[in-house]
Amino acid sequence: MKTKLGVKNILFPLPRFWWEANVNGKPNYLAASHVGIAAMIHITISIRKTRFTSIGIKENKAFSVNMPSIELVKETDYCGLFSGKDVDKSQIFKSFYGTLGTAPMIESCPINMECKLKQTIDFPTHELLSERSLRHTAKINT
Ligand SMILES: Cc1cc2nc3c(=O)[nH]c(=O)nc-3n(C[C@H](O)[C@H](O)[C@H](O)COP(=O)(O)O)c2cc1C
Repeated sequence: MKTKLGVKNILFPLPRFWWEANVNGKPNYLAASHVGIAAMIHITISIRKTRFTSIGIKENKAFSVNMPSIELVKETDYCGLFSGKDVDKSQIFKSFYGTLGTAPMIESCPINMECKLKQTIDFPTHELLSERSLRHTAKINT
């Protein structure tokens, strides 16, 4: 017999990433979990409409997804607790740019994905953004 679970979503635990976008010309970081794969070369992210990062993604139609290492757990939590509306998060990491020139990526993250906004699907509180993932950078420790 199956038991009905009283949860909203069973897809937990979730991975942790950072999304990074330029907002008003400065990098801003958001801790994020709601990331998916679509048609292999695309990814999807689910972002609450009120996020500061959302302004930058719309402005530039570009952003990055960065996969942190365990050493960066403190910074991950900070970026997930505080909004760029209230604090300046632009100096937390050293950023670099790729092909687009408008999607900052985090130097200290082992994996970076530079993404170009392709499509937006509107939900009442969130937007599901589909991105063409352009470039993957991996830091190999030797
Ligand atoms: C582990 C974790 C995962 C999160 N995942 C998401 C997410 O997928 N989408 C989202 O909109 N917010 C997510 N958040 C919340 C944002 O990171 C948080 O509200 C952040 O302060 C927003 O920053 P911003 O306003 O500067 O963009 C997550 C927070 C944490 C701690």
